[in-house]
Amino acid sequence: MKLGAVALGCLCLLAVVSAEVLFEEKFDAGWDKRWQKSSWKESDGSAGKFTWTAGKWYGDEEADKGIQTGPDSKYFALYSELKKAYTNEDKELIVQFSAKHEQDLDCGGGYIKLLPASSGKKMKDFGGETPYSVMFGPDICGYSTRKTHVILTYDGKNHLVKKDIKAETDQLTHVYTLRLMPNNTYEVYVDLKQVESGSLYDDFDMLAPKTIKDPKATKPEDWDERKLFCTLHILYCPCCCCLQDPKATKPEDWDEREKIADPEDKKPDGWDDIPATIVDPDAKKPEDWSDEDDGEWEAPTIPNPEYKGEWKPKMIDNPAYKGIWVAPDIDNPEYKHDDKLYLQKDIKYVGFELWQVKSGTIFDNILVTNSLEEAKKFAEDTWGKTKDGEKEMHDKIKEEKKKEEDAKKTDDDAKKGGDDDDDEYDTEDGDDKKEAPKATLEDKAEDEDEKDEL
Ligand SMILES: *[C@@H]1O[C@H](CO)[C@@H](O)[C@H](O)[C@H]1NC(C)=O
Repeated sequence: MKLGAVALGCLCLLAVVSAEVLFEEKFDAGWDKRWQKSSWKESDGSAGKFTWTAGKWYGDEEADKGIQTGPDSKYFALYSELKKAYTNEDKELIVQFSAKHEQDLDCGGGYIKLLPASSGKKMKDFGGETPYSVMFGPDICGYSTRKTHVILTYDGKNHLVKKDIKAETDQLTHVYTLRLMPNNTYEVYVDLKQVESGSLYDDFDMLAPKTIKDPKATKPEDWDERKLFCTLHILYCPCCCCLQDPKATKPEDWDEREKIADPEDKKPDGWDDIPATIVDPDAKKPEDWSDEDDGEWEAPTIPNPEYKGEWKPKMIDNPAYKGIWVAPDIDNPEYKHDDKLYLQKDIKYVGFELWQVKSGTIFDNILVTNSLEEAKKFAEDTWGKTKDGEKEMHDKIKEEKKKEEDAKKTDDDAKKGGDDDDDEYDTEDGDDKKEAPKATLEDKAEDEDEKDEL
């Protein structure tokens, strides 16, 4: 047991030695000295502010203070700096933060950005156009956009992950973690639970495609028919579609016939001697038939029961069948392999640059590190300790709010007497974002020092 403890101690020591915290922000007192407000959108009055607050519900009012966006329909931008620029060559890059969409976000960004030292001169006006390295976090707008963005900049272009990663949409604090690894894989965690992972090669389009359609091949004459055919057949027969290459031509000796007539099969002797129809053997010349008046009587014909139709050879599998022809791809001359897709050089800034229709998101507990363990520990020490208290307070406020509403409704109904037109009531007060507790907290926040805002 003693030995085990020693071994464990050594392991921990190793982990601690290699772990490096590159940036940490808990938004405690003095945060405003570490963050700069961008002048982005200020000139036309569409820039909002960040207010230092724990919000309407929290587990610990001091520890849960973060920065909250406000007012509605504004742009928000501020940033801070790493002590020294970080290049993740052969190391991991982990960025983590928490977001609480207290306002019940219906449209707005909630993501963080990491920016390179080369954006330094532009940081004063840091905004949507400023070149960044990594963009990560939730983005919500209506029911169609409810995702967690992972955007990596490669070769000057932004590349969005091709997978749809869910975002949390409730009004509680959630921790978002992105991990980039030197083996060109990534992982996304929400509340320390892995929600996505994959290869940077497969899940992003950073590199040009490895192969392309042969640009020298020529378009078959029946191309338009084939396209139509394909549109009609793709549902139940995707391989009927030889659409992969709009220009290539099929080699002449390519055999696409799956079945052929059996060359061994011979027409039986006498097959053609059996007539299709015969004279009806049961027919009799009617008794009142007059050859003079009616012409010479001819017995009617009927189908011959012996007749077997036109002879067709048996169909057999074609031994020369090569399948439906698909033009081969050729190597893309533009393709260049890169075994360091994960690499981001000289990360120097951390920032938020957002537009929110409905403001009120509180950001907190940002960490940039090279160790997932460190990030987990940090999240457990912060969010992990206050999340239950926050939920409890949230639930209580919601419950009280509901009781209040129900009481008011009963009251209103009583006042109105027979009048059951309560539409007005529903539209004005049905929305739980205009709660009393917020007003009190905001008043409180406004009473505090000027530096509570950026
Ligand atoms: C990449 O590295 C991570 C961390 O070392 C490891 O957990 C993961 O299995 C690796 N993935 C691949 C595909 O090698």
